[in-house]
Amino acid sequence: MDKAEAKDRIIFLSEEIRKHNHNYYVLSKPSISDYEFDMLLEELIRLEKAFPEYGAPDSPTQHVGGGVTREFSQVQHKYPMLSLGNTYSEEEIRDFEERIQKTIGDEVEYVCELKFDGVAIGLTYINGSLVQALTRGDGISGDDVTTNIKTIRSIPLKLRGTSYPDEFEIRGEIILPHASFNRMNDQRMEDGDEPFANPRNAASGSLKMQDSAEVAKRNLDGFFYYLPGAGLPFKTHYECLVNAKSWGFKVSDYAVRCKTIEEIFDYLTTWEVARHELPFDIDGIVIKVNDLKQQEILGYTAKSPRWAISYKFKAEQAATELLSVVYQVGRTGAVTPVANLRPVQLAGTVVKRASLHNADIIANLDVRIGDMVFVEKGGEIIPKIVGVDLAKRLPDSIPVAFISHCPECDTALIRSEGESAWYCPNEAECPPQIKGKLEHFISRKAMNIDSLGEGKTGMLFDSGLVHSCADFYSLSYETLIGLEKTYESTPDKKEKKISFREKTVTNILKGIEASKNTSFDRVLYALGIRFAGETVARKLASHFGSVDNLAAASYESLIEVEEIGDKIADSILFWFSLPKNRELIERLKASGLRFTLDEPLVARVSNKLEGMTFVVSGVFTNFSRDDLKKTIESHGGKNIGSVSAKTSYLLAGENMGPEKRKKAEKLGVTILSEADFSNMIS
Ligand code: IVH
Repeated sequence: MDKAEAKDRIIFLSEEIRKHNHNYYVLSKPSISDYEFDMLLEELIRLEKAFPEYGAPDSPTQHVGGGVTREFSQVQHKYPMLSLGNTYSEEEIRDFEERIQKTIGDEVEYVCELKFDGVAIGLTYINGSLVQALTRGDGISGDDVTTNIKTIRSIPLKLRGTSYPDEFEIRGEIILPHASFNRMNDQRMEDGDEPFANPRNAASGSLKMQDSAEVAKRNLDGFFYYLPGAGLPFKTHYECLVNAKSWGFKVSDYAVRCKTIEEIFDYLTTWEVARHELPFDIDGIVIKVNDLKQQEILGYTAKSPRWAISYKFKAEQAATELLSVVYQVGRTGAVTPVANLRPVQLAGTVVKRASLHNADIIANLDVRIGDMVFVEKGGEIIPKIVGVDLAKRLPDSIPVAFISHCPECDTALIRSEGESAWYCPNEAECPPQIKGKLEHFISRKAMNIDSLGEGKTGMLFDSGLVHSCADFYSLSYETLIGLEKTYESTPDKKEKKISFREKTVTNILKGIEASKNTSFDRVLYALGIRFAGETVARKLASHFGSVDNLAAASYESLIEVEEIGDKIADSILFWFSLPKNRELIERLKASGLRFTLDEPLVARVSNKLEGMTFVVSGVFTNFSRDDLKKTIESHGGKNIGSVSAKTSYLLAGENMGPEKRKKAEKLGVTILSEADFSNMIS
């Protein structure tokens, strides 16, 4: 095939696949078989590989994923991402309507919509192509998750028709349908990972994965409900929705226009019940003023628009009998009472256990074994007990007596003044607390061993292979292969058995090996010394330069370090005074971990550039190139040598090579001038 033919075929296949994606994922009306679709996609992938000059950032092959984001850069929203005022009663909705009428008068039409329970997202399209996807973040800046969002097949990478604005943003919610959520949690448990508490957490976790090919497997979906910014060629919000739909977005069919408050209440009561029939979660409804001019007049408070409000469904409750109370010890040593209940149906699942929070709440509720209790399901995986049906209390009910000793290690529990939880103080030997330390050690900001999640670490501990973090470095293929665990599967609640297979084991060992390159400051943080958080560990590493210097430091020399006070100094001295900790350091040293600082750490001035990567190129007026690089690091940013799709910014000076600029432009990497950069950090 020659170049011209390839180009034509790529254009043809892209159009075909786009159309079929839309039919399947947006309209739920497949127009060809899965096999035929896969054939078209495979051909396109093959052609784009052979003729990369015709591969486009909005090609449907992008849905397959493959790009890896090591750290998500933070980007400022063009329009702040506000939230909605919440209401919980019809009364409050009437108040909302009254407020609107005071400003606008009687002629107000509303649009009622479902309130999707997912992760808010803002997508920017330029000339019909998706160029950026940002999460809410703090509402001012969000994480750039474009690579991961592109894997969601219902999200158009290129819009349909030609009637869309040249540049616009659309907001919506990324959700995980129930079927995909159950499948995914089952797989997680099979892999020895902790299941997600609910579809929202699962969606949010998926968007933050580094490998977009993995995100593509999660079957995320998205509904779109808002076009922010003035200057749209439409008069009403409803018109925006209809048009967004015609451009290819998935817009809910359940948005309706309401003229009266009674119609709003009808919508609300319908969905309070009908929501259980939906294949995804909603947590309420949203009521919006339809007319865009009226919206403009009503305006915004600092946090939310005055022209819209949400009504949140009440958490569902069920009544059942309290059979017994057991006690769980968390990673921090905090003891949580958990109720065993007579199984009861609640919001689509059978509930057998519920949290009783702490000793004070047990006392306040005066809950007794044998009582009929009310259970409520919030966003957590474990429902909670919210009350007792005193009318049904039997004379032989037994008050709950809180335990005095740790159920895991039998140490006497302690409670500090002003705290509601009882703690097990046996930090060093209590099993769940050791597991907590191991989980901290492998966590992202510490040794970052992501091939070992909480579940796998727990398995290694339970099987007796890993008791201290030094044990990770003694693991071998032979000890890991075939390691077993039983778990309860999500959909059918049946007990299943899993065992580590070759791929899992090789990944774990690779991750452990790679962690040996972690810099000293992070190794120090990973040790989990009390009060030595990320910043303190950085300061100590920078000041003392090596673990030997730190271990030999006196109280006086410790408090000389900026921001280190007596509490931290005492904690460091105590930690290094224990022979078992010194032994731990020796074992970790022998395994090849870094205990000296190879390069001086640049002092942190701010976290403004956290998660952003920069390529600095050319000659600058006020800074030398080295100064600029140091400044980037001092604000939490990272310097890299060459421009790639994952680069956040190209900082361009005079006489910069034209190739770098061309590449940045092609990949959509923002180019900054020296002045832009100064503004960013000022
Ligand atoms: S409109 C300026 N419509 O709920 C306000 N939001 O608690 C724009 N949400 O921030 C938001 N479904 O993340 C709107 N149909 C819907 C929604 C919706 C879910 C989310 C959204 C919002 C949050 C507020």
